[in-house]
Amino acid sequence: MKSAPIHFGSIASVLDQYLHENNFSNIFFLVDENTHVHCLPILLADLDHLSAYEILEVDAGEEYKTIETVSNLWLALAELGADRNALVINVGGGVLTDMGGFMASTFKRGIKFINIPTTLLSQVDASVGGKNGIDLEGMKNMVGTFTQPEMVLIDPKFLKTLEQRQIKSGLAEMLKHGLIQDRDHWDNLVQLLSHNADDLAPFIMDSIEIKRQVVEADPYEKGMRKILNFGHTIGHAIESESLETDFPLLHGEAIVIGMIIEAFLAEQKGFLATEDREEICDGFASLYALSTIDSKLIPHLLEWMSYDKKNENHAIHFSLIDQIGSCTYNVVCNEEEINAAFEAYNTWIN
Ligand SMILES: NC(=O)c1ccc[n+]([C@@H]2O[C@H](COP(=O)([O-])OP(=O)(O)OC[C@H]3O[C@@H](n4cnc5c(N)ncnc54)[C@H](O)[C@@H]3O)[C@@H](O)[C@H]2O)c1
Repeated sequence: MKSAPIHFGSIASVLDQYLHENNFSNIFFLVDENTHVHCLPILLADLDHLSAYEILEVDAGEEYKTIETVSNLWLALAELGADRNALVINVGGGVLTDMGGFMASTFKRGIKFINIPTTLLSQVDASVGGKNGIDLEGMKNMVGTFTQPEMVLIDPKFLKTLEQRQIKSGLAEMLKHGLIQDRDHWDNLVQLLSHNADDLAPFIMDSIEIKRQVVEADPYEKGMRKILNFGHTIGHAIESESLETDFPLLHGEAIVIGMIIEAFLAEQKGFLATEDREEICDGFASLYALSTIDSKLIPHLLEWMSYDKKNENHAIHFSLIDQIGSCTYNVVCNEEEINAAFEAYNTWIN
């Protein structure tokens, strides 16, 4: 499966040309309440070849990345007369593009869609790889398809209205790209004096390129693509658990904790040198406010991990880095080892 073309920078002219060359029966912009206000008007103002369109709006947030939301969207498409020659343009963060891609790839067995990611996280990560989907009763990305959009259009100017907390969430995935595949990328990002949207914009394409190469080597995640899940076995469990509280963590915030605990796991398994593990811990600690994990939560987290899509034969599988810039996958760890890594993390924080 070839990756979709990615255009970076001034994207309106690319979209305009595409709409001019293709005669779609209907065009639907899918937005959430925030991208409707902050992003869609900027995009529409620059489009000359758009005569008629409909706007579909969903509530913002991971808690709405559900089959109920998608079911309402399928109904809306049907009621608005969408046929197989319709186009969906997803304008939003990873929740929106994952869900919009799933909606489009299943409606009438698949209609075309374009992704315009508007958060840092969705630009550097969710934009590449053709994965889309929804959560199921809190279990992350349990249902979905591998379907490539027609194209991905990335403009860093959308990041100007994004909260700094969301920028740091996206930075987490950029740091992961460095840790699994490219030490220079990790060094460049950690050493930046500040981490606002303007400072990070020059590194967006580097992250995309790392992910694109991994995905193209293994599009359906039979092997090497699993390295992109570093930090996510534990991180997704923490994210799922936190979504049930009044103060949910953002995806990247949960993944940061996941990466640190999995670095301890890698060290304990003898994959990762203590020196590298310490550098990883120091790097994250300089960028993120971290706190301990209540040991009473660990059994719940292990239960969430038991649903992880990488698991085989009921054993929890991890992707673990073996040095900064290199990652291995299909590492089985038992509960005792996972518990010890949580304990090491809590001791380090204290
Ligand atoms: N498909 C993939 O390969 C892949 C990879 C990584 C993450 N993901 C998924 O991505 C999701 C997280 O994505 P996210 O962090 O972008 O979250 P998100 O889509 O919830 O967006 C975060 C918030 O920012 C708002 N927002 C979006 N763009 C904005 C802008 N330009 N200005 C102001 N506000 C804006 C949104 O309305 C939302 O409130 C998770 O569901 C995760 O599973 C998918």
